[in-house]
Amino acid sequence: MKSNETVNGPDGDQDVKDTSRRNFLKQSSLLTAVALTPGTAVKAAVMHVDEKIAAVFEKMPLKMEVNGKPQKLSVEPRSTLLDILREQLDLTGTKKGCDHGQCGACTVHVDGRRVNSCLTLGIMMSGKKITTIEGLANSDQLHPMQEAFIKHDGFQCGYCTPGQIMSAVACIREGHAGSEHEIREYMSGNICRCGAYPNIVNAIQEVKDGGQTV
Ligand code: FES
Ligand code: FES
Repeated sequence: MKSNETVNGPDGDQDVKDTSRRNFLKQSSLLTAVALTPGTAVKAAVMHVDEKIAAVFEKMPLKMEVNGKPQKLSVEPRSTLLDILREQLDLTGTKKGCDHGQCGACTVHVDGRRVNSCLTLGIMMSGKKITTIEGLANSDQLHPMQEAFIKHDGFQCGYCTPGQIMSAVACIREGHAGSEHEIREYMSGNICRCGAYPNIVNAIQEVKDGGQTV
């Protein structure tokens, strides 16, 4: 029966109202169903995102060796190696410059290879051997590269220096210190705002030419 259909019988007016009400309820139910479906989907999506965010902050176990010492840590999956070294292990010799992989101040060695620790997720370091500037010297005996930097005045403010030294050691180990040009090329990821480049190159050349084990 249509809502505006004339109804027979003594109670005709009432029947028209009932029909209208039924149709109204049907339409309302439909609208409610339509309205609720996307809402539920959004709610589920929000819960999913919440879970993902919670997972980012949930700490995970990490075992690695740092400067010869085994370390058992609990780290957030989003933590960088740089932040773990500085904030959890108090190894603040490794510097945070750009935090974007552009300056080299955060250079450390992972299994003997240089990496930008600001771009390295700590959780990926499970079972790795990390060496920072604090682990380069042999007790009170400076590493030859540290001595050469002092001798050749390879720093001014010193902020970039730990990263420069770690990179310089790796540069020789990699066999990329054959000439001034090659040293400059393979040290180009380490920025020195004080402009100590010529002295840094001299220091690297001396260690390379001296044939010391680095
Ligand atoms: S702090 Fe890592 S490259 Fe600048
Ligand atoms: S010594 Fe100052 S930034 Fe390099």
